[in-house]
Amino acid sequence: MALSRTAEYVAMFRAVESSRSPEDRLFDDPYAASFLSGKLAFGARVAGLRGGQKLICHYIDRNWPGSCLAVVIRTRLIDDAVTEAIEGGAEQLAILGAGYDTRAMRLPAARAVPVFELDQPPTQERKKERLLKRDGTLPQNVKYVPFDLLEEGVGAPLKLGGFVSGLKSVYLWEGVLSYLSPEAVDQTLAWVASSGAPGSRIVLTYVDISLFEKNEEGIAEPPWSAQVAKVGEPFRYGLDPLGMNEFLAARGFKLGWDLSTAEALGQNPGISGAEGAPDFYRVAMAEIQDR
Ligand SMILES: C[S@@+](CC[C@H](N)C(=O)[O-])C[C@H]1O[C@@H](n2cnc3c(N)ncnc32)[C@H](O)[C@@H]1O
Repeated sequence: MALSRTAEYVAMFRAVESSRSPEDRLFDDPYAASFLSGKLAFGARVAGLRGGQKLICHYIDRNWPGSCLAVVIRTRLIDDAVTEAIEGGAEQLAILGAGYDTRAMRLPAARAVPVFELDQPPTQERKKERLLKRDGTLPQNVKYVPFDLLEEGVGAPLKLGGFVSGLKSVYLWEGVLSYLSPEAVDQTLAWVASSGAPGSRIVLTYVDISLFEKNEEGIAEPPWSAQVAKVGEPFRYGLDPLGMNEFLAARGFKLGWDLSTAEALGQNPGISGAEGAPDFYRVAMAEIQDR
């Protein structure tokens, strides 16, 4: 089990966005830079210099087109969705594959509820070390739950960590589905649907399954796949946006909304001024139905 490099890239994109001026940026993640090392830490420092943010985004886009913007837009959409769910009565937040997510500290709504952060031990330990180095303490409202989703599933580790089944809850599954198997996705959704009170919400991101279609040469080459594969975390799983209602209904959920990061630009007044967000990267929110 290795340290997640993709989690560090995501933190870098958040650090770069946070270096923009308060009027322009979509969010401020003051913790993101603390999780970076090597060239990613250097890139985030350059982004903080005059003109540096554009330079770094340009460099990232050359290698990994639209990735930074997709992460920035999804972060903002999810910040709003998690806040809305908690303000709507969710009593706990479970973050599956939390990486360097800092919503438990950043979002006023999330600071007021217990937050369960699940991840593989190497990434989780590193996150705790970096936070301790930065602040000398860990957030009181967070319970860190080490787990491997493919080996153990979510239910038992979360229960051990103190998550209370039957409460109205919000579950976040951001940037993780692409690395899982269909069985693991189904098992996780089945557990989520049975563990939260009806009306509980899940917010998830996924890539459009059409990315995995083969080209004329018979090769499936989704954008970014070479990059994520290079850091040892290849894309393995996608979903069909046209089938999301059905897919979720069959698993006990009602789809609330489902937007590509490109569509989010047009539909969310909080997200403006950015161009070139990918169509294939999507964020969806669904509610657990009455059983
Ligand atoms: C791209 S990162 C996203 C992190 C975070 N959700 C975010 O958006 O900032 C993917 C995360 O999924 C976690 N992950 C991937 N496979 C996993 C597995 N089998 N079990 C537990 N966590 C896993 C990684 O450790 C990593 O933190």
